[in-house]
Amino acid sequence: MHTPSATAVVGLQWGDEGKGKIVDLLAAEHDVIVRYNGGANAGHTVVVDGERYALHLLPSGALSEDKTCVIGNGVVVDPRQLLKEIEGLTARGISLEPDRLLVSDRAHVVMPYHKEHDGALEGVLARAAGQGDENLSIGTTKRGIGPTYADKVHRSLAIRMGDLLDADVLRRRLDIVCAIRSRELEALGVDAPPLDPAALADEYHTLGERLRPYITDTVYGLHDAVADGKRLLFEGANACLLDIDHGTFPYVTSSNCSVLGIPPGTGLPGTVIEETVGIVKAYGTRVGEGPFPTEDLGEDGERIRERGHEYGTTTGRPRRCGWLDLVAVRYSAMICGCTSLAVMLLDVLSGFEELRLCTGYRLPDGTVTDRFMPDARRLATVEPIWEVVPGWEPEIDHITEAADLPPEAHDYLERIAAFVECPVAIASVGPDRRQTIRLGQHAAS
Ligand code: IMP
Repeated sequence: MHTPSATAVVGLQWGDEGKGKIVDLLAAEHDVIVRYNGGANAGHTVVVDGERYALHLLPSGALSEDKTCVIGNGVVVDPRQLLKEIEGLTARGISLEPDRLLVSDRAHVVMPYHKEHDGALEGVLARAAGQGDENLSIGTTKRGIGPTYADKVHRSLAIRMGDLLDADVLRRRLDIVCAIRSRELEALGVDAPPLDPAALADEYHTLGERLRPYITDTVYGLHDAVADGKRLLFEGANACLLDIDHGTFPYVTSSNCSVLGIPPGTGLPGTVIEETVGIVKAYGTRVGEGPFPTEDLGEDGERIRERGHEYGTTTGRPRRCGWLDLVAVRYSAMICGCTSLAVMLLDVLSGFEELRLCTGYRLPDGTVTDRFMPDARRLATVEPIWEVVPGWEPEIDHITEAADLPPEAHDYLERIAAFVECPVAIASVGPDRRQTIRLGQHAAS
């Protein structure tokens, strides 16, 4: 079988599609697994032989000991979290030697004041909304993602992984950063003593020293890997509809989490990507604020939440649940240039008499469109146009061959492929690696 030299895996909805499992599966056919965006706001749960691993920063490929993992320059790294994950895997017998994990010296560092700022600003905005103002809170994961990327773009006050290795540079930077950030946090109502630059510099230099063996110029590392004929797997965090430029702004995350983020987040040209697998949950979920046209606030949504265990890996928040929005998925597949789809959590839909698929939007003036609108305010005004299809009764979580799926489940996959104009190559019917059905191109295209 032909293994592409570089494959991208990307979520096509609002995150939590089950990318971790597919990355973990595809990792077997690749040599280097690369994260290019986001930070510890992402959460990947992978189940191997019944053991659950929740990773936030490490690429899911970290579980396979013969793979190299790269945290590219486009990622924002919380050093404490990264060390916790490295040590957590080591304690379970999976070692991450420095030649197996490369962390970009240019990746920006999530500092404690970024997390405080994130939480405090969300609180201020939510309280303002409670008093009748427009709700401008995003419902972030409070992992400091937005403030860290904001510092990157502001430049002067930013701290990168390489800076942690130089105690003097770090201390001088933090002297000024702490003075400014303390005033900002106070203005946001944070009741805490001013930030202590000496203590922070000390702590973060120590964290940097512990991570020193991993910190390197990943751009050259990645180009060398390509030149050596290594096969690369890009692991998208978050998902296309949360992309800062192409998602449902402002209810998005702060990075380019579509496939378009790969070149800036790694230093590799887009031409290296041969295949892009779009990950689609068989229904819809969303965490945080923002429009979600196919949300079901009734019994069906509740049933999906319970059957799908739809509670956040990172924050534990109950996810908003609803039906599959094919208009949105087709848009994301277009933005990402998907060459195949993986449909996840198909087993969750067993037992529904009927299933709904959204194939168009009705606008307030009565006109109908099958084009997605990434502007949150416009999207909030649309009514979904439903295609109702028959469901299937039996549980399917034990099925491993497409031929054994109930015909209605097979038809459901075919409808997705036909609407999105992209073949479904994989259907997942449970969290374990074994609960995976590979479909031939003709089976669902
Ligand atoms: P932030 O990335 O923490 O700033 O959060 C911004 C928005 O993106 C919020 O609505 C989050 O719930 C959402 N978000 C960020 N990462 C993920 C993810 O991995 N899965 C689902 N939602 C996410």
